[in-house]
Amino acid sequence: MSLQRMLKLHYVLVLVLCVSASEDFDWTKNERGSFYYGTFPTGFSWGAGGSAYQTEGAWDKDGKGMSIWDVFAHKKGKIFLNDTADHSCEGYYKFKDDITLMKDMKFNHYRFSISWPRIFPNGIKADHINEKGIKYYDDLINMLLDNNITPIVTLYHWDLPQVLQEKYGGWQNVSMVNYFNDFANLCFERFGDRVKYWITFNNPWSSAVEGYETGEHAPGLKMRGTGAYKAAHHIIKAHAKVWHTYDTQWRSKQKGLVGISLLADWGEPVDITNQRDIEAAERYVQFYMGWFATPIFNGDYPQVMKDYIGRKSAQQGLGTSRLPVFSSQEKSYIKGTCDFLGIGHFTTRYITQKNYPSGRGNSYFTDRDLVELVDPRWPDPGSEWLYSVPWGFRRLLNFVKTQYGNPMIYVTENGVSEKVQRCTDLCDDWRMQYFKDYINEMLKALKDGVNVKGYTAWSLLDKFEWDEGFSERFGLFYVDFLNKNKPRYPKASVQYYKRIISSNGFPNQREVESWRRKATETCSSSNQLLAAARRKSQQDNKEQAGMPKVWPVHDEV
Ligand code: NOJ
Repeated sequence: MSLQRMLKLHYVLVLVLCVSASEDFDWTKNERGSFYYGTFPTGFSWGAGGSAYQTEGAWDKDGKGMSIWDVFAHKKGKIFLNDTADHSCEGYYKFKDDITLMKDMKFNHYRFSISWPRIFPNGIKADHINEKGIKYYDDLINMLLDNNITPIVTLYHWDLPQVLQEKYGGWQNVSMVNYFNDFANLCFERFGDRVKYWITFNNPWSSAVEGYETGEHAPGLKMRGTGAYKAAHHIIKAHAKVWHTYDTQWRSKQKGLVGISLLADWGEPVDITNQRDIEAAERYVQFYMGWFATPIFNGDYPQVMKDYIGRKSAQQGLGTSRLPVFSSQEKSYIKGTCDFLGIGHFTTRYITQKNYPSGRGNSYFTDRDLVELVDPRWPDPGSEWLYSVPWGFRRLLNFVKTQYGNPMIYVTENGVSEKVQRCTDLCDDWRMQYFKDYINEMLKALKDGVNVKGYTAWSLLDKFEWDEGFSERFGLFYVDFLNKNKPRYPKASVQYYKRIISSNGFPNQREVESWRRKATETCSSSNQLLAAARRKSQQDNKEQAGMPKVWPVHDEV
């Protein structure tokens, strides 16, 4: 367990104590509001998503180069149970089957990412273009379109070519801006006649903080207090450059849109009457989403980041802020480079003010001068960081509307995982509840005037969940990783989401209440089928004992 996680657990406990100690603390103020029956505007786009490294497998096939995640996951001790995504869902081979699943659910769109080293094995265009990689994405895109499913394509979902990490230090080096632009430009050239929705970066917060600050993600560097800021700086520049490339070279021909996908938890003040808590909560969101969104929409980093990091850097005796500075040309070049904003949202935190004296041990986390808390009564069905707090979603969406001038929004990720002990339970009532409540809050946000155009359930399949390996399952479809054919089994939430899609929302109470019952009706028989299939896979695996392990066998734990 990482230090950060231990601290979070500690805060949960502290909060339990606080709750019992302070009787007058009003936890009901944010209790779930009433359900809103109604439908989404015609043309609202429904879909689900995944990403290349998490689902494709075929890590060394057909000329693909190594990414930082291939290398990171192969190092012992980095990933839960030392799993890798070498095979994962074998999406590279099974995409036709997956599109059949999407078609059956009547998806309007599917979000996936292109693996940079599958196209440029060494990261650089001049070195080599891998036509087999291009063919894979061509086939995927064509088949989606044949089935009336719009591709929403992410260019960078964390899998930087390893060569670029080794030669240049990855996102610490400004040369990534041009290399990424070359890659994006080739994607526009080769796929842009058919792809109209491009996302430059997925959740750059994680690439920066977990890749270069905590080291929990590839490339695993711990450059506390500086690495994340520098990586983010270059990522923002790279995003802007790619947007301009599209704008000047491709937009008039291809008529598509280029956006970015930002992950953002909502931060709610612990005490809404306390100004310090209110400011701390706002800081939490500004250091999270605002870090990237404010330069892109408004031209520079949030003032509060400049103030806090600048002050702490000065107190440390540094001549300049650890937060890099954009020149005025850069500011105007970056401002306005977003045709739509992708939002990834999973959870919420209560926030209170806490001073961290500057000095040794400064980090992105202590720069914020706040503490994250959770209400122990919030449901936490899956990943330990993921508490279900639907009302936070509506607040976040409204925050985006007011802060960034009501941009066009696509929800690019929203969903919930399950705990290991539930891993063979296809009757995922907690996921149905999560989708129902979060999608309902999104509907309320639409009624508030937020400009949301589409929703992407995360994720289509169970898949490799980064440093957590295969232990956290986000899928609408269960994947039997024990079986080398990686069969997919629908969870009950597939039926449920399908009904939300076919009704384009929540028509009326009677009907919505029947969905859950209907969705769970077939579960126990599906569970039995799955249990029998898994017993067979285990048996087959035992018979092959002595052979090298080619697929993960961990979720018996
Ligand atoms: C955000 C990441 O973009 C995605 O890849 C991951 O699966 C989800 N968070 C859930 O942790």
